[in-house]
Amino acid sequence: MAYFYESVSRTFSEYIMIPNLTTKDCFTDNVKLRTPLVRYKKGEEPEFCLNVPFASAIMQSVSNDTLAIALAKSGGISFIFCSQPIESQCEMVSRVKKFKAGFVISDSNLKPDDTLEAVIEMKNKTGHSTMAVTSDGTSAGKLMGVVTGRDYRLSRDDVKKKVSEFMTPLDKLITGKLGITLKEANDKIWDNKLNSLPIIDDSGNLAYFVFRKDYDDHKDNPEELLDDEKRYFVGAGINTRDYKDRVPALIEAGADILCIDSSDGYSQWQEDTVRWIRAEYGDSIRIGAGNVVDAEGFRFLADAGADFVKVGIGGGSICITREQKGIGRGQATAVVEVAKARDDYYKETGIYVPICSDGGIVHDYHIVLALAMGADFIMMGRYFARFDESPTKVIKLGNNYVKEYWGEGSNRARNWQRYDAEDKTLKFEEGVDSYVPYAGKLKDNLSKTLSKIKSTMCSCGSINIKELREKSRIALVSSTSLVEGGAHDVILKDKSDF
Ligand code: IMP
Repeated sequence: MAYFYESVSRTFSEYIMIPNLTTKDCFTDNVKLRTPLVRYKKGEEPEFCLNVPFASAIMQSVSNDTLAIALAKSGGISFIFCSQPIESQCEMVSRVKKFKAGFVISDSNLKPDDTLEAVIEMKNKTGHSTMAVTSDGTSAGKLMGVVTGRDYRLSRDDVKKKVSEFMTPLDKLITGKLGITLKEANDKIWDNKLNSLPIIDDSGNLAYFVFRKDYDDHKDNPEELLDDEKRYFVGAGINTRDYKDRVPALIEAGADILCIDSSDGYSQWQEDTVRWIRAEYGDSIRIGAGNVVDAEGFRFLADAGADFVKVGIGGGSICITREQKGIGRGQATAVVEVAKARDDYYKETGIYVPICSDGGIVHDYHIVLALAMGADFIMMGRYFARFDESPTKVIKLGNNYVKEYWGEGSNRARNWQRYDAEDKTLKFEEGVDSYVPYAGKLKDNLSKTLSKIKSTMCSCGSINIKELREKSRIALVSSTSLVEGGAHDVILKDKSDF
């Protein structure tokens, strides 16, 4: 007969935190969110940590190179999606690794015989007013000059005027040589009162721009997640089918850590994949596995050698796994049980295997609950899909701006496999195709979320995740007290009235 659990499985919205004494050292600037990313032995330090406990989901509509750079800048990690050909995934990884903070590959480029009309068009398209003029109009062509808003006057100049007639030509430009450090580049910018500095190689080809504003940006990101060579840290998703080809290519491209992407990770396919990586690379390559929702699943993957284990089945915002297959578990219950299994495993073996709560975060306080319940870090899809840096375009839908967000188990995401030799026609979908409200820049949103999290932690008397776990007092809420928690019994003013 089937085994029946006595308690129901619960989700984050069913819980609330009871404040503890806020001691005087509990202020938001004093809260540190550094957390382990990979397994480590008792008494040793983890090889990799996150500075903020966030990972972006392994999804086409979430984790590409632009989001990875923005998130690493803020201290978290992206896992570049694997539902794409190996080559394009590797290109994304290598774009992150090649991205030099402060050194920007020019994305607005013209040829000398382009016209002012093309300049205006490009400015409208990219929003950038500094454009490189190169021999072939590419970002790596021979630098001929630069066009900025100061080089033309729309009211006077003929739109058919050639770029070569009004650009600032190379001989009048101050440039930097490839190999220059960011500090040297910025000194040049300041000493010469420039807004940007083109960096060229020995043959005169354009390599990068350094912009004055980016230097400030660099200083503004003290939590940046960098590798030993000061490049942004990036993860990559893999699957349990083509890993023997995909893993070596991703490592070659520079991926810092891998993670198996699957809705159900309690499987021998995952065990084989992790063991193959261990056999090939020993401990030099770090690999996360999942997803699981119970102690048995955790132990299975930890024993197989997983460096972290992802928790969550069916809780994702675009996920219909529970409806379609009837498997899963309330996200809070899953995290609590797996966290206990992790702690037991640590006591028994002296090995700490971090866990990641994946999916189902709706409110920022859910993140604090997940951490308090034992998650080491949190993976989110919907949250990141809303930002400028995610791979999709902003669309106007009625009066609202939105971005598209679709599940990896939707036909849309799985379509890429149609190009595979093997027929993988889907019989049913496990995810939906949807919109999420557009929310602007990752950095602005993340900093708001972080200040809320830190403020909740201070109310709970904690200035780091370890303390939060030890001190938290968590209560169930009734459905009526949930109503009490929102604005109630008042007539809300419509902001548009003002
Ligand atoms: P969200 O943060 O609630 O949007 O959930 C994101 C998570 O949902 C991902 O990290 C995956 O674990 C999971 N997920 C992504 N695509 C699908 C799908 O198509 N079906 C089920 N779960 C999915």
